[in-house]
Amino acid sequence: MSDDAATQANQTLTVRDNRTGNEYEIAIADGTIKAADLAQIRTSEEEPGLATYDPGFVNTASCKSAVTFIDGDKGILEYRGYPIEQLAEKSNFLEVAYLLIHGELPSKQQYDSWVHEITYHTFVHENVKGFMQGFRYDAHPMGMLMASVGALSTFYPESGNISDPDNRHIQIVRMIAKMPTLGAWAFRHAQGKPYIYPDNELGYTANFLSMLFKMSEQRFEADERLVKALDVLFILHADHEQNASTNAVRSVGSTQVDPYSAVAAGVGALFGPLHGGANEAVLRMLRRIGSKENIPSFIEGVKNGNERLMGFGHRVYKNYDPRAKIIKQAAMDVFEVTGTNPLLDIALELEKIALEDEYFVKRKLYPNVDFYSGLIYEAFQFPPEMFTVLFAIGRTPGWLAQWLELVQDKEQKIARPKQIYTGPRTLDFTPAAQRWA
Ligand code: SDX
Repeated sequence: MSDDAATQANQTLTVRDNRTGNEYEIAIADGTIKAADLAQIRTSEEEPGLATYDPGFVNTASCKSAVTFIDGDKGILEYRGYPIEQLAEKSNFLEVAYLLIHGELPSKQQYDSWVHEITYHTFVHENVKGFMQGFRYDAHPMGMLMASVGALSTFYPESGNISDPDNRHIQIVRMIAKMPTLGAWAFRHAQGKPYIYPDNELGYTANFLSMLFKMSEQRFEADERLVKALDVLFILHADHEQNASTNAVRSVGSTQVDPYSAVAAGVGALFGPLHGGANEAVLRMLRRIGSKENIPSFIEGVKNGNERLMGFGHRVYKNYDPRAKIIKQAAMDVFEVTGTNPLLDIALELEKIALEDEYFVKRKLYPNVDFYSGLIYEAFQFPPEMFTVLFAIGRTPGWLAQWLELVQDKEQKIARPKQIYTGPRTLDFTPAAQRWA
């Protein structure tokens, strides 16, 4: 037998069920076994076969994907095979969005056409404005974004025809184009300022800044260094394999619903403080710590479980999040324009102490993408509740690339996991009149 054939033959598990003495050969592929192959392991024909129990899918692959590669131990992140460091330095957000969606870098003609399409779909139906004005003055912008993205599905009912490639394309273009408009209008709503319409003479990120900060001037011209820094931040947030919000998009998308409804679910998942909401939570944490002198007592609070070091730790990265390194440098670039942020000193000291402390070292807790991003956003004069909106705008192409992969994947089925039932069984029901008599 050739070495290859021997290796191929060894790509199996031999499982012995000690309850019956039966043995089973289970194939290994891509470092996994199919959970369905466990179903044959049973003690009798009447009993359901074995399944796996994996809260939070800590050790479960839900799909095959060619969009993003992460090596958590080595701190590697690649979009369609391109290292994040090179894309952040040499590309721009719309080119990266094209790469994620189409799987390859665009030619000049493809890029120009892509930019033109997105530029001319930044407006939203005027009724969306009325919809957003219905929120309370202090509504959280993530709640407004989640609702308005979902509402877009009612303006484009044809988006439910997910099997039509041209229809999928125009809905993807619309969502990437309109997310900044919705995010900016949620920001303006909270400030009680008039909503600013897109300026199609500006680039994607410059237009977003215009819709956020333009007042009575004819044209809002943001500092190029700030535009570049925000564009890099969008690139760094663009995708991250099967994170919680992408899993939400895929789970909802698996029912064959339109992409707006699926992405609205992703926005909802991202809102959580353990996920995209962490950047807002980091700023509030740094403000609460207040000074370097308070760091040791805060660290003690983390160790005794009363605090969580927001912006630290990651399900996949057991090394420094490569995005955090780039964001830390981008922060310095931004502070050259805006002036530094006093909270930066606390963040740097907190990072230094944590990286030397056994509690964090043992648990392989390093700064993640959210630890420094909030400091940059604050330097842009964003309030903390806007930080996760910025994350959502960056993540939209990734969510849509993953959704596109899902709807074309012949192996995918509607997401419907099993459970381990722990409740009571076959109780006799006593009608209320008797129960309360
Ligand atoms: C994002 O998945 C992605 O890719 C997400 C993301 C993306 O781009 O989409 O990268 C974006 O969400 C980044 C993560 C942002 N969240 C935070 O910064 C919140 C703080 N971090 C955590 O809550 C936590 O680290 C998670 C949620 C990120 C990961 O949680 P896991 O993988 O379920 O790990 P765990 O909670 O089981 O923690 C393992 C241990 C535990 O200690 P023990 O029970 O073993 O004693 O580490 C501890 C945890 O208590 N721990 C922390 C901690 N994170 C984990 N202790 C203190 N502070 C922390 N931040």
